[in-house]
Amino acid sequence: MRVREAILPDAEKIHELISAYSGDGTLLPRNFPEICENVRDFVVLEHRGRIIGCGALHLYGQHLAEIRSITVDPLHQRSGGGKRLVDALLEEAEKHKVTCICLFTRKPEFFSHLGFTIAQREDLPDKIHKDCCVCPRYHCCDEVAMIKGELPKFAILPEPASWLVKLQV
Ligand SMILES: CC(C)(COP(=O)(O)OP(=O)(O)OC[C@H]1O[C@@H](n2cnc3c(N)ncnc32)[C@H](O)[C@@H]1OP(=O)(O)O)[C@@H](O)C(=O)NCCC(=O)NCCS
Repeated sequence: MRVREAILPDAEKIHELISAYSGDGTLLPRNFPEICENVRDFVVLEHRGRIIGCGALHLYGQHLAEIRSITVDPLHQRSGGGKRLVDALLEEAEKHKVTCICLFTRKPEFFSHLGFTIAQREDLPDKIHKDCCVCPRYHCCDEVAMIKGELPKFAILPEPASWLVKLQV
């Protein structure tokens, strides 16, 4: 197994891997154009020339990055692939001198195994301003916020208009 940076021809397989786990809410759905547009955020896990997993790192700034869309084909789970993906994304974050890596998950046990600790969503305002404020589950979020590193002391994304947040009631 090896992890490498994703390229555009991988987008279809990445879409397939994420879609397999977005129906039940395990992963946030990502549509094909969105994956193509952000393909440089992705790494893929290869086994015998076939892609069997993927993950992405979204950069907010040096103060924060987010691990997203981590998944491994069920036939290859529990073989170290998920850890390899997370390690590669952490290495990428380190390359960019990012001081806090966050993620939102319904599988906190896996990530605590890899050294992440539970945080409060409110401690990550950039994530709220970018995604949560337009999420239909804004007031009933069942994802656990986790971080590795130092909590950011500021946000760089502007707070969305209050009418937009109220729409999520
Ligand atoms: C979560 C997921 C990515 C883990 O990938 P994986 O390849 O099975 O994990 P690994 O084999 O690399 O496991 C690394 C370590 O975490 C442990 N682990 C794996 N899944 C775990 C889980 N669900 N709960 C607790 N520990 C877990 C492993 O036992 C292993 O421990 P070890 O290093 O002491 O042996 C994979 O199960 C998956 O794709 N799930 C569906 C999508 C998903 O839930 N994504 C994450 C939500 S954001």
